[in-house]
Amino acid sequence: MPRPYVLLSAAVSLDGYLDDTGPERLLLSSPADFDRVDEVRASVDAILVGAGTLRADNPRLLVNSPGRRAARVAAGKPEYPLKVTVSASGELDPDAVFWHTGGDKAVYTTDAGARRLREAGIAAEVVPLGAALDWARLLEHLHDVLGVRRLMVEGGGTVHTQLLQQRLADEVQLVLAPLFVGDAKAPRLFGPGEYQGGRLRLVETRVIEDVVLMRYEPTAPGTGSLAVPADRHWLRVACELAAQCPPSRTAFSVGAVVVAADGTELARGHSREAGDPVTHAEEAALAKVDPADARLAGATVYSSLEPCARRASRPRPCARLILDAGVRRVVTAWREPDTFVQGADGTGVLAAGGAEVVVVPEFEEAAKEPNRHLVG
Ligand SMILES: NC(=O)c1ccc[n+]([C@@H]2O[C@H](COP(=O)([O-])OP(=O)(O)OC[C@H]3O[C@@H](n4cnc5c(N)ncnc54)[C@H](OP(=O)(O)O)[C@@H]3O)[C@@H](O)[C@H]2O)c1
Repeated sequence: MPRPYVLLSAAVSLDGYLDDTGPERLLLSSPADFDRVDEVRASVDAILVGAGTLRADNPRLLVNSPGRRAARVAAGKPEYPLKVTVSASGELDPDAVFWHTGGDKAVYTTDAGARRLREAGIAAEVVPLGAALDWARLLEHLHDVLGVRRLMVEGGGTVHTQLLQQRLADEVQLVLAPLFVGDAKAPRLFGPGEYQGGRLRLVETRVIEDVVLMRYEPTAPGTGSLAVPADRHWLRVACELAAQCPPSRTAFSVGAVVVAADGTELARGHSREAGDPVTHAEEAALAKVDPADARLAGATVYSSLEPCARRASRPRPCARLILDAGVRRVVTAWREPDTFVQGADGTGVLAAGGAEVVVVPEFEEAAKEPNRHLVG
């Protein structure tokens, strides 16, 4: 199901706290960084905070720059991004400035929370999601019903922790501020629980006055039939590799990446690599991994085109090579057309062998691009 791009944004002290325990909100960012945050807010369709942040900080969550608001309006967007909050209890102050500033507001809650919010006369669209709040459903509703394509999440720690642990975040924008809180009772950015095993990808660092912005992307593949943000990253890489293939009139141009469960890239390859006119992408990538590498069992193979089920040039097709390597998850952008093989069904071969195959159609055009001369 389509979801918005989810950007987590937070500032922390050098000892990793989001705030202190005093009554006033602790200002961690520098003035220029607050302006950067304003710019990011202006670029998104919606800003979300947890009910804990509403109660603690009473934030307005506006785009403060008149120029940025005017640019939004000129681009046909609402002057302010939609403001969103989540609350299981529904215990929110109807007089909080959140409800009375900016543009549209929505609150995602439970059925019991919705009753409370309506009784309190909260000035917002109240969206009950049943007995408990499910983040995937919330994001799908934001996307499908409220038209949100980019979502900025501004905390607090409870919300950030869930979105990262549930593999629903596309990006983390973290600002490190040069001060200490030193109070174990203060809120932390990320709480305990199960995160992806390996290292995130650092995509940018920026010094802004005395703070440092770091942008990270998750790297670990999903584990089931749903594509997580990291899956989309690796599939994009596979599609970029496909564009590097020497052109051919008799074979597809395909890229493939093998990624361990903790997000470590094990190998990558593309069709006709290293001058071999018949090498397939998955075959080229798997040939670079030690067959005894225990990480293969939990790995995901990303292939711009569905792995082949039959081929004349080698005894084993790629679907079989993948199964024989012990890999049990494949993410692909494009089901194989009948161009060279009638009724090729690599997905069927993989599924029969116990592998999960995830097709992500949003990359189909990118996968086709280097093959236009073959498929039009
Ligand atoms: N430095 C920064 O960048 C930054 C940014 C934001 C916030 N903060 C700080 O962070 C602190 C607040 O963080 P926090 O962790 O206490 O609160 P929070 O994450 O803002 O909100 C937690 C609340 O959101 C609701 N919620 C979260 N997950 C839910 C789920 N799955 N289902 C239903 N409801 C859910 C619950 O509301 P109910 O209790 O109503 O059910 C929960 O108590 C404050 O001190 C604030 O200043 C700092």
